Amino acid sequence: MTAQLDVDTLRRWLDEHRPVTVLDIRTDEDRAQWAIPGSVHINAYDAVRAGQPGALEHVSLPTDRPIVTVCNAGGVSQTAADILAARGLDARSLAGGMKAWSLAWNAAEVPLVDDSVRVIQVRRTGKGCLSYVVAAEGEAAVIDPSLSPGVYLAIAEKHDWSIRYVLETHVHADHLSRARELAHDTGATLVLPPQRRVHFAFTTIADGERIPLGGSTLTAMHTPGHTDESTSYLLNEAAVFTGDTLFTDGVGRPDLHADGEHSRHRAQALFASLNRLRRLPERMVVLPAHASEPVAFDGRAIAARLNDVERWLSGWLVSQSAFVDRVTSKLPAAPPNFVRIVELNEAGELPTTDPTDLEAGANRCAVR
Ligand SMILES: [Fe+2]
Repeated sequence: MTAQLDVDTLRRWLDEHRPVTVLDIRTDEDRAQWAIPGSVHINAYDAVRAGQPGALEHVSLPTDRPIVTVCNAGGVSQTAADILAARGLDARSLAGGMKAWSLAWNAAEVPLVDDSVRVIQVRRTGKGCLSYVVAAEGEAAVIDPSLSPGVYLAIAEKHDWSIRYVLETHVHADHLSRARELAHDTGATLVLPPQRRVHFAFTTIADGERIPLGGSTLTAMHTPGHTDESTSYLLNEAAVFTGDTLFTDGVGRPDLHADGEHSRHRAQALFASLNRLRRLPERMVVLPAHASEPVAFDGRAIAARLNDVERWLSGWLVSQSAFVDRVTSKLPAAPPNFVRIVELNEAGELPTTDPTDLEAGANRCAVR
């Protein structure tokens, strides 16, 4: 049997731009859900699984770099790697496949006009979850952590920052929150919007309340709609962390855990929240909690200035009734396992089993 490559090594290779061919052999349908940035796709899953001779015969691949085969869970890709290795190629299989890849991440610094603060965007590339390390004068806050505490601790240590606060924009439905775990491991204050959903202790931050960070300030702006408690955080007048309320190319869906009438009510609240956000200074940078595509290893932050967002958002906000109709119809399927994920996030618990069993798959928190 040929060698396997673990997710962390592949993510490091891609981060360092090492030459590697990532060969995705899944079906077209699976590929369309989500993929590894820069990967090559051939729909060979069924042929390889069926043991068809010559399943990968017609595939020409560069011979000057390793090949990493990928499938959903790392089984069929192992057979594919064996076939390629028998042809004399340096091939290995991604251990755990796309399910394990769900935890792969990369980071990008957000360019800001205000040089008294720094913001590192931490991206779960496979799921598109975006979290942030915000720092000023050596003090840091982490917003919406979706990866294990070690990822954020390593970033803070590298810059000599001390994590003082862990904030959530809302109770998430698409990923398991690591906020409580990170606050526990760092001794940081865990800060959540006021709500009666979670069953653990936290510090509340209501609309207009502030958190000092070095000489800078994070200010809460209650922006309900995606969920009732959804809150955005303003970093000075430089940036706004909008959670799942406002994305760079869409808005939050109002329907999770809500029936028809409740989701229309939430959509009305979202309309008001978006109107509040669009009145912020136009040079502020919008930093959402999700990307719509797998995040490339390009070091470029997923962000947009408010005046760029306004170009499309103004068309959405012409009237409340048209907006409500738009965001309550044609919604994508709910995120996989979201009921269980919300239950765990409200309990403040992580599953005792592999978290990617629940989290695998792309996020679906937006309407576009
Ligand atoms: Fe969400």
